[in-house]
Formats: sequence, C-alpha cells, structure tokens
Amino acid sequence: MRRIMVAPSVLSADFSRLGAEIKSVEEAGADVIHLDVMDGAFVPNITFGFPVIKSVRKVTSLPFDTHLMIENPDRYLEDFKNAGCDWLTVQAEACIHLQRTLSVIRKLGMKAGVALNPHTPPDVLEYIMDDLDLVLIMTVNPGFGGQKFLRTMLAKIRKVRNMIDESGNNILIQVDGGITPETAPEVIAAGAEVLVAGSAVFQSDDYKKTIDKLKTGD
Ligand code: DX5
Ligand code: ZN
Repeated sequence: MRRIMVAPSVLSADFSRLGAEIKSVEEAGADVIHLDVMDGAFVPNITFGFPVIKSVRKVTSLPFDTHLMIENPDRYLEDFKNAGCDWLTVQAEACIHLQRTLSVIRKLGMKAGVALNPHTPPDVLEYIMDDLDLVLIMTVNPGFGGQKFLRTMLAKIRKVRNMIDESGNNILIQVDGGITPETAPEVIAAGAEVLVAGSAVFQSDDYKKTIDKLKTGD
C-alpha cells in the first residue's frame, strides 16, 4: 500500500489568518502545505509571492510544496528556495528547457516537480524521468479553487502510474483540483499518492475529519 499524503492548498484558507490556518491543518494531520503561486499571465489570477511564503515559513515545520503557475519560472527558482520552499513544481507548458529547470531545482536542494495541464499529454515526461521527484496531474484547469474534478484525468493518472512503475524511479504522483472525500478514492485507486485539497479542507467545519476522510476514502 502506498502512503497517501494530503497537501492542503492555502488558496482557500482565510488569508487574514494565514499563519493560524496553516497551524490548524498541521495539527489536523496535513503532510505538506501546498502553496499556489500565480502571476496573472500563465493563469488569469494573482496570488502571493516571496514575502508571504517567508513569513509563514516560521509557523510550521511541514514541507512547503510550492506550485508555480507562472511564466518563465527559471527567473525565480533560487528565490523560492530562499523563501523556504522544499518541493518546487513548475508547469511543463511554461518551460522551454524543462530538463534544465528540473536539474536546477534539484541542485538548489528541493524536490523537483512537473505539473501537467489537463490537455498536456504525459509523453512530455518520457525523457525526463530521471530528473523528477514529483508529477502533478492537474485535475482542473489551473487558476482557481473550487472547480469541478475532471474525470477524464483518471486515465492520465493511470498512465503516469505505469510510466513511473516501469521506470523504477521514486516519483510521487500528486493530483490537484476538485479533490474531495468523494473523488479521493478514485484518484487513489488510479495511482495518486499526494492529494492537494483546497476548498474541501478549508471550507469544512472539521479539518481533521476531512483530512482523515481524504486519506482513508471513508
Ligand atoms: C488551482 C490550484 C489548486 C487549488 C485547488 O489552480 O492549483 O491548488 O487550490 O483547489 P480545490 O481543491 O478547491 O479544487
Ligand atoms: Zn496547486
């Protein structure tokens, strides 16, 4: 059995009490904290950057799993490391020299991740399997929380699961978008192991109960 991890996305947290929200999900059993950085160019939304990440770095020892939905992320890889990020995921569509970007992320001492938009085929991973620590399969189009899970992504999760198993590499599969206690069992069965959940966690009354449900599927 693969270990299932839950990564609450703070995009749906109460930003006026961001530190307290992160502490609450840590106490509720979160495994990593998912930080969605958006630039208003790669996606039609803007979130937060280095000063916010740096300041919440002080409130938790959980790894920061940062999902960059920005154009030309190469400009900022070192800054994200310095802000306290542990896992750094770039969108495949935003990187012209993806292999180089991943190797720089690893050299900086972070786990290197690639995110795939719903329409992006997993073939882009074929020749970079040795450079990857994580594949993030977007199960909605990136940009906003609270969107509906795209069921057609289940086939992609299965495909990436096979690619990873065949490679023999230790690469995590993460899913992001519309993950709830209802959709979690399906993505887990397809081979996902890190579940990003924004609205499902932060809009629930009981963070612990929701995180437990996501992990166990009941
Ligand atoms: C969407 C972000 C997600 C978002 C997920 O572009 O990458 O991390 O917060 O939100 P939910 O879980 O509400 O679909
Ligand atoms: Zn995300």
